[in-house]
Amino acid sequence: MKFSAILLLLALSLSVPCRSQSLPQPAAVAIIPQPVELKLKNGLNFQLSNNTLILISDPELTKSADFLADYLLRYYHIHIGIARYTHNENRKNAIRFLRTASVAPHHDQYRLSVTSDVVELTASSDKGIFYGMQTMLQLLTLPGNGQIRPEIPCAEVLDYPRFDYRGMHLDVSRHFFGTTFIKRYIDYLAFHKLNYFHWHLTDDHGWRIEIKKYPELTRIGAWRKGTIIGLYPGVGNDGKRYGGYYTQDEIKDIINYASDRYITVIPEIEMPGHSLSVLAAYPDLGTEPDKKYEVAQTWGIFNKFNNVLQPTEKTFRFLENVLTEVMDLFPSPYIHIGGDECSRIWWKRSPVSQQIIREKGLKDENDLQNYMINRIGKFVNSKGKTIIGWDEILEGSLQADAVVMSWRGEKGGIYGVKTKHRVIMTPENFLYFNHAQSVKEDSLTAAKYLPLSSVYNYDPVPNSLSPAEAGYIWGAQANLWTEYISNPSKAEYMLFPRLDALSELLWSPGKKRNYDDFLRRLRVQMKRYDAWGVNYNSSLGPGQKNESKALVGH
Ligand code: ACM
Repeated sequence: MKFSAILLLLALSLSVPCRSQSLPQPAAVAIIPQPVELKLKNGLNFQLSNNTLILISDPELTKSADFLADYLLRYYHIHIGIARYTHNENRKNAIRFLRTASVAPHHDQYRLSVTSDVVELTASSDKGIFYGMQTMLQLLTLPGNGQIRPEIPCAEVLDYPRFDYRGMHLDVSRHFFGTTFIKRYIDYLAFHKLNYFHWHLTDDHGWRIEIKKYPELTRIGAWRKGTIIGLYPGVGNDGKRYGGYYTQDEIKDIINYASDRYITVIPEIEMPGHSLSVLAAYPDLGTEPDKKYEVAQTWGIFNKFNNVLQPTEKTFRFLENVLTEVMDLFPSPYIHIGGDECSRIWWKRSPVSQQIIREKGLKDENDLQNYMINRIGKFVNSKGKTIIGWDEILEGSLQADAVVMSWRGEKGGIYGVKTKHRVIMTPENFLYFNHAQSVKEDSLTAAKYLPLSSVYNYDPVPNSLSPAEAGYIWGAQANLWTEYISNPSKAEYMLFPRLDALSELLWSPGKKRNYDDFLRRLRVQMKRYDAWGVNYNSSLGPGQKNESKALVGH
C-alpha cells in the first residue's frame, strides 16, 4: 500500500466519530419499558470510571445519585463521586442531574442527553430524574461481560409514563417473605419504573403486621399449624407450624427504602371477609364467637369456612383502631381495605347480624357489606386518606372518592368508570402472575395459564370507553398471590419476565407496542438478570416448556 493511501485511511479512521469497537450494536440498545423517543447519535461513547462525577443541582437528587453510585459499585466495581453542579459547571466526564424550574408538559417527564463528554439528565421533578437514571442504567454496557469500563452510547431520550398508577402486588399471607426479599422486590419495581407496591398484609392464612393494640393478631394470627400439600384440594397437610410477621420498625424501614425509590407502599388490611387470622386471635369478632377458629391451612376457602367479621360496634372499634395504627405507620394517601369474596351465608345465619341489619334499616346482607365498606371508607377519609378496594366494593352505592381495583375481569372497572370512580385494572385473566407462564412448569402453580404475550398485549383502557371515561383509568397492576410460591426464587420466577411486559404496558405509549421488538429487548434484559442473579422463566415463545433453573419448594 502506498504511503498516501495509508495516510488517507488514517485520516478516514480519525474522522469516523465512533470507535466501532466500543459502540454497542444497535441490537444491544434495549430499553424496557420502551421510551417515548430514543435517538442514537454519532460520537464516541461516554466512558465511566472512578474519575467520573455525578453532579446534582439540588440536594433532593441525592436519592437518585446514591442509587446510581451503589449500582455502579455493585455491578461494575466503580467508585463514583457525587458533588454539587454549581461548583463544577464546566466539568467534563460528568453525569449531570439537573432539576429545571420550568414544569414539563407530562408528569415525571425527563430528558437524557449523552455525549462523549457529559451525560445530562433534566427533569422538573426529582422523580423524573430517578426514571431517567433508570433508563441510563439500561444504556450502560451490560454488567458482567468482563469490560472494566462501562460505556454509554451517544443518545437523546425524551420520556414520560402513560399511566400515573403503575403497581405490583405481593401476597405475604399465604407465604411470608422476609424484609431482605421485600427490598429486592421493591428494587425490581424501581428498575421497571413502577411507583406503587401493594402489600397484601392480612388474609385467612396469616396476619403479617404488628399492631400494638392487638398483640394476639401476631402472637396467634400470624401462625398456622400446617400447610396443604399440592394443588388445592391437596394431597395432605405438612403439619409444620408456619408463619411470621413484620414489626412496625421493619415496616418503617421498608417504607423508607421504597420512598427512596419513589415507590409508595399501599398496605392492604382485608375486611369483612378473608379474616380468619383475625378470628383465630379474637373470636369475639366473628359471627360464631364460640367457634374454635384457626388460621387457615388450606387454599381456596371462600364460601366454605366462616372467615367473616360480625358487624358489631366492637368490630368497628377494632377495625378503626387497627387502621389508625396502620395509617400512622404508612404515609400512603391510599389504604386498601380488601372487600372481596365475603360470603353472605354467615351473616344470614347469625341472629346478631340480622338484628344489626334491621336496626340500621339495611335491605339485606349485600347492603350490610356496602354499609361496612362505606363506614370504614368515611373513617379513613376522617384521617385524610382514601380507600382502595377490590371490585366487590361497587356492589351497592360506593362513596365517590373510593378507588376500585377491577380483578374479576374488566366489568367492575368499566362499571367503576361509568359511576365516576378512579379505577385500577388488574383483571385476573391478564395480570395474575401466580398463573403458569409456560404450558409445562417444573413446579406447582395455580391451574391457569398466562403467557408473556397475553400480559404484553393487555391494554388497561377498554375499547368501549370514551376518551373522557378513559381518564378514570388511573392505571393497572399485576398481582402475585402466593399459595404456590413459598420462596423468593419461585417468586422471581413467576415475576420475570412478565414484570417487563407489565412495565411496558403501563409506561410506554400504547401505539409503540411491538411484541417482536419487545422480545429482542428482553433477550438483552435477561443478560442483566443473569448479572443480578435473578431467577426467571427463559422460554420466550408461546406454549414452550420453561428452561428455568431448578426451583425449590412449591
Ligand atoms: C382476589 O383475587 N380475590 C382479589
